Amino acid sequence: MQGCVARRVVRRGIGKDVRMSSTNVLELPLTASGMTPRVVDPTLDLEDEIRRLKRQLNAVILAHYYQESDIQDVADFVGDSLGLSQEAAKTKADAIVFCGVHFMAETAKILNPGKRVLLPDLDAGCSLADRCPPETFARWLKQYPEHTVISYINCSAAVKALSDVICTSSNAVDIVRSVPKDRPIVFAPDRHLGRWVMKQTGRDMVLWPGFCVVHEQFSQRRIARLKAEHPDALLIAHPECEESVLTLADHVGSTSSLLQFVRTSPAKAFIVATEAGILHPMRRARPDAKLIPAEPSSGCNCALCPYMRLNTLEKVYLCMRDGRPEIDVPEPTRTDALRAVRRMLDVSAGKVFVGGD
Ligand code: 13P
Ligand code: SF4
Repeated sequence: MQGCVARRVVRRGIGKDVRMSSTNVLELPLTASGMTPRVVDPTLDLEDEIRRLKRQLNAVILAHYYQESDIQDVADFVGDSLGLSQEAAKTKADAIVFCGVHFMAETAKILNPGKRVLLPDLDAGCSLADRCPPETFARWLKQYPEHTVISYINCSAAVKALSDVICTSSNAVDIVRSVPKDRPIVFAPDRHLGRWVMKQTGRDMVLWPGFCVVHEQFSQRRIARLKAEHPDALLIAHPECEESVLTLADHVGSTSSLLQFVRTSPAKAFIVATEAGILHPMRRARPDAKLIPAEPSSGCNCALCPYMRLNTLEKVYLCMRDGRPEIDVPEPTRTDALRAVRRMLDVSAGKVFVGGD
């Protein structure tokens, strides 16, 4: 993992203009988002400090499966995008420390305007969200005034505010099925998830042409070779992968669904086509099973999300100690986005959605 893109992104800048502050913290050059990165005293027991700060702040720590294993281990809840939104919606804590990427923390803030939401690294974005700017999206949507707009949760609050309903990879099929058959649908921003949902539901949809830089790196050729090398292994894949990969898969699903499949399958070996963070809970769930990470077709040979991996245990500690970076979502964007997020949570809770305003 040494030479991989994620590690290079995290370490970029270290060694330049480094100076010591009076509080024994190394001050480093500004990051793209304007935060001053700091390096923590290496003798601190970070897990203990994080637990102490959690009590002090009355905070809950939510972590996505794509986080480093030490972050997953210190979290109160580890899950996929839907599970994390559901936890954020029901938490009684005063503060939410969101160990994931920006759109996830924004969703927590949309649901909890009165709570403090902290994200360890403000630069932790997402290629899907970045490639769907709200102004361009709003102009594009003008072509489809009759359509119900379904947006994957991997988008900005401003794009959520332009949408009728949000979905995650866990519930995208249910959300699409909840729209009356005579209503045309726009689906954004992941074209691969959109195409897969079209196949599952038989619904035609207009797709925004976005993609995930991690999942698009898995190639059919490499995966076919892995399958030939491990004929007993089942291929499990996230629906953000290309269609050519998904057609080879024995199971397609969200990170929680992939984990559940590994937990309950009688098979002894699995080729895993998603971000490598999921291997940590999979190893715990099935210490007897062989887990074979699918290799991306370029860059490093490890499928690590360069955004998710910007968060480190040190930054979790620092954001709790300093109360920043903090997420804010301006009104009325928040209230418009909340309507679309609430509809998703309602459909997932079994309530009926009638396809937009
Ligand atoms: P899920 O959490 O829905 O599995 O999606 C994975 C992902 O790429 C999150 O950014
Ligand atoms: Fe975005 Fe892909 Fe990273 Fe998920 S894995 S946060 S979709 S870039």
